[in-house]
Amino acid sequence: MAPSTGDLAGCFVTIEGGEGTGKTTLLAALAERARAKGLDVVTCREPGGTALGERLRSALLGADGSAPDPRAELLVFAAARAQLVAEVVRPALDRGALVLCDRYADSTTAYQHYGRGLPRETVDAVNAAATGALTPDLTLLLDLPPTEGLRRAGRAGDYMEREDLAFHERVRAGYGELARSEPERWRVLDASRGAGDMADEAWGEIVRAAQLGPA
Ligand code: TYD
Repeated sequence: MAPSTGDLAGCFVTIEGGEGTGKTTLLAALAERARAKGLDVVTCREPGGTALGERLRSALLGADGSAPDPRAELLVFAAARAQLVAEVVRPALDRGALVLCDRYADSTTAYQHYGRGLPRETVDAVNAAATGALTPDLTLLLDLPPTEGLRRAGRAGDYMEREDLAFHERVRAGYGELARSEPERWRVLDASRGAGDMADEAWGEIVRAAQLGPA
């Protein structure tokens, strides 16, 4: 059945994955398809997406940044997210836009819990406080071995990209666990393929999820 663009109204889609997995490229391709179909689409990235969020992003991940205390790091990501939800995501969903977001609360679970080792209860509580329990309708996980992702991301990265390989392996495994624990929300995409293939598959998943409605 041909997708009805109405099905995608008010749909919240997030893109997750490790470094260099192609999230930003995929998001741009999906937004272009959605706009070509005449949809009202809002894109955002985390941390960032608002004036405050972008300032927090550069304070945290700016060129000379080094790894902060893990709890401070957790709370900065959460503060940026709370502002993004209040200022951008909620209003966009309320007016019926399709929202595509590059990273969201699952990044915090993957990086600050699985990567850094902060307790899951702490991370869940902070995520709930930051999002007001707003959960994506669909989350696309771009899966790629960290060696390949870090190679693609290049050398001059922020402090997170300079974490050791074991950290990035924990993040990847953590994402896998999250996807397995909530299969109705997550779709895992093999990020070793070309951008065009990824965009075709991801768009198909978005349309299917919207047609099926809330899980
Ligand atoms: P970014 O340059 O956006 O990385 P990428 O291009 O891989 O998305 O930087 C975001 C970095 O912050 C990335 O290393 C993941 C990390 N991060 C967390 O650790 N926790 C979070 O909650 C978020 C949103 C990002």
